[in-house]
Amino acid sequence: MHHEEIITATIEFVKQKLANAEGAHDWWHIYRVWKLAKYIAKHEKVDMLTVELGALLHDIADFKFHNGNERIGPKIARDFLTSLGLDDSIINHVAKIIENVSFKGEAHIQPFKSPELDVVQDADRLDAIGAIGIARAFAFGGYKKNPLYDPRIKPKKNMTKEEYIKNNPPTINHFYEKLLLLKDRMNTKTGKKLALHRHKFMELFLEEFFAEWEGKK
Ligand code: ADP
Ligand code: NI
Repeated sequence: MHHEEIITATIEFVKQKLANAEGAHDWWHIYRVWKLAKYIAKHEKVDMLTVELGALLHDIADFKFHNGNERIGPKIARDFLTSLGLDDSIINHVAKIIENVSFKGEAHIQPFKSPELDVVQDADRLDAIGAIGIARAFAFGGYKKNPLYDPRIKPKKNMTKEEYIKNNPPTINHFYEKLLLLKDRMNTKTGKKLALHRHKFMELFLEEFFAEWEGKK
C-alpha cells in the first residue's frame, strides 16, 4: 500500500471508531492534531508516515473513556495496522506513541521518547491550549458535569498519575493543573513558538474571567 492509501484507510477507520465521541475528543480533534503534526514535522527529521499514523490513532481508545485501561488503544491500533500489512517496526513505534503521548499529571515521568512522538505530542498539546484548548476544556468539564469554577477549591500542585486521573476539578482549575504548564513542556522549536502565542491567549481569557466573576467588568 502507498502512503496516501494507508492514510485514507486510517482516516476512515478513525472516523468510524470516534463517531460517538464527546466534543473534546472527536474526529475533529484528531483532524487538527494530524494537520498540526504535519506542519511541525516539516521542520523536524522524522518519518512522516509514523507521525501521521501516530497523530491519527493517538486517541483511538483513550484510557479516560475505558476505565483507565491503557492497553486498549495500542491494541486496536496494532490490529488495524496489521490488517493493512504494515511492517512490525512501524506498528511498534505507533503503539509506543499512543502509549506515551498523553499528559498523566505534573509528576509523571515518560518512559519512551522519539522524534516522531515529540511531534505528535506537541500537536496534541497545542490542541489543548489557546482558543481551541479553552473550548475543549469547557466541553470536557461539561461532559463530566464539573463546575466552571469554584473559588473555594484551590488547584492541586504536582499530582501523581493516579491523583491526576481521579481528579474532577472545576474546569478553571484544570488550566492551572495542566493547560498553563504545557508551554514549558513542548518538544520542538515550532511547537514552542505556537504554544507561546496560545498560552498568552489563555492568560488573557483567565484575566477577563476572574474580573467578570467578581462583577468588575
Ligand atoms: P491528552 O490529550 O494529553 O490525553 P487529555 O485527554 O487529558 O489530554 O485532555 C484532552 C482534552 O480534555 C484537553 O483539551 C483537556 O484540556 C481536556 N481535559 C482533560 N481533563 C480535563 C478536566 N479535568 N477538565 C477540563 N478539561 C479537561
Ligand atoms: Ni488527543
